[in-house]
Amino acid sequence: MATERTLSIIKPDATRRNLTGRINAALEDAGLRIVAQRRTRLTQAQAEAFYAVHRERPFFRGLVEFMTSGPVVVQVLEGESAVAKNREVMGATDPKKAAAGTIRAQFAEDIEANSVHGSDSPENAAIEIGFFFGQVDIVG
Ligand code: CMP
Repeated sequence: MATERTLSIIKPDATRRNLTGRINAALEDAGLRIVAQRRTRLTQAQAEAFYAVHRERPFFRGLVEFMTSGPVVVQVLEGESAVAKNREVMGATDPKKAAAGTIRAQFAEDIEANSVHGSDSPENAAIEIGFFFGQVDIVG
């Protein structure tokens, strides 16, 4: 097991409902450390670039529209196996399939407004962290 970093995004449905603190508590309770964090509003170009791998998917336009509909909180999480740990705490993409007690089971509205994003591999985590943060922004 190794210490890793992963990118997390608290999505507009969650910031709108003032859930940032409760989501952060769930992440910290799971042993993840928030080593960088910024509240921001994604531009259309940023959302399209961040989700470029999904460009051909039928839900792409809706996803970009949703992710630019309000503030997000982008954050870097650090811990043992942080990528897998964060995905465990988040729960399945579709909240109907998310295990009880996970962030998405507790807070997500539907598969699109699903409250949080987490990198799906250490390789993508490095790319996604670099999308939002420089080395000087991350304080471990
Ligand atoms: P996220 O982890 O941010 O990565 C891609 C996002 O696309 C995903 O969470 C969902 O919010 C969204 N998504 C995935 N599948 C669907 C779908 N079938 N319909 C709508 N949105 C989806």
